[in-house]
Amino acid sequence: MQNTNNIHPVFDQIINKEQKEKLLNQKAKVLWFTGLSGSGKTTLGASVEKELFNREFLTQILDGDNIRSGINKNLKFTEEDRVENIRRIAEVTKLFLNCGVIAINCFISPTKESRDMAKSIIGKENLIEVYVSTPIEVCEQRDTKGLYAKARRGELKNFTGISSPFEIPENPDIIVNTNELTLEESTKHILDFLIKEITC
Ligand code: ADX
Repeated sequence: MQNTNNIHPVFDQIINKEQKEKLLNQKAKVLWFTGLSGSGKTTLGASVEKELFNREFLTQILDGDNIRSGINKNLKFTEEDRVENIRRIAEVTKLFLNCGVIAINCFISPTKESRDMAKSIIGKENLIEVYVSTPIEVCEQRDTKGLYAKARRGELKNFTGISSPFEIPENPDIIVNTNELTLEESTKHILDFLIKEITC
């Protein structure tokens, strides 16, 4: 860890979150989707974003495959790298929230440790946890990216749900099983909870 003795943050000199929320007429929160690969996190996140856009809320989607092809492209899927992945994402999320923007995060975030860390960086009160509980059999059958097949053939190490753990969230704010609900129903279920949280 780098020594931060000579670092002098200037947070008190910049326009604060409340002022920016007022400008945007919204309360900044992060909707944090957690669940297996292929469970539907990004599809749901994109659908929620579209509905929020239509209602004039400003949002930003952060998604595992995108972030891992940019800012986090040096990280792998070891437990240590996954924690670092989520730590950086949580810090980036905090910047969006400080800017008054609603973040929609779609990450497997497989362990309690990583999710707790995100909550402590972002502030528990600012994070709405959505567990996308689609069962592994369904995710594996969908296998949109062909990764489950690769993992079963032993060509992909540390694959979540097969050779790397996924710890079910203990107390999520919202649970969505995309195998039981249509996309429209899941989206509505989330919006019913979310809108009151982000409305001024
Ligand atoms: S996390 O575990 O660190 O939170 P993240 O959400 O960023 O994962 O990235 C998951 C995406 O990376 C998956 O949707 C999948 O497309 C891809 N991926 C590649 N290798 C793996 C792996 N070993 N385990 C899980 N996902 C993987």
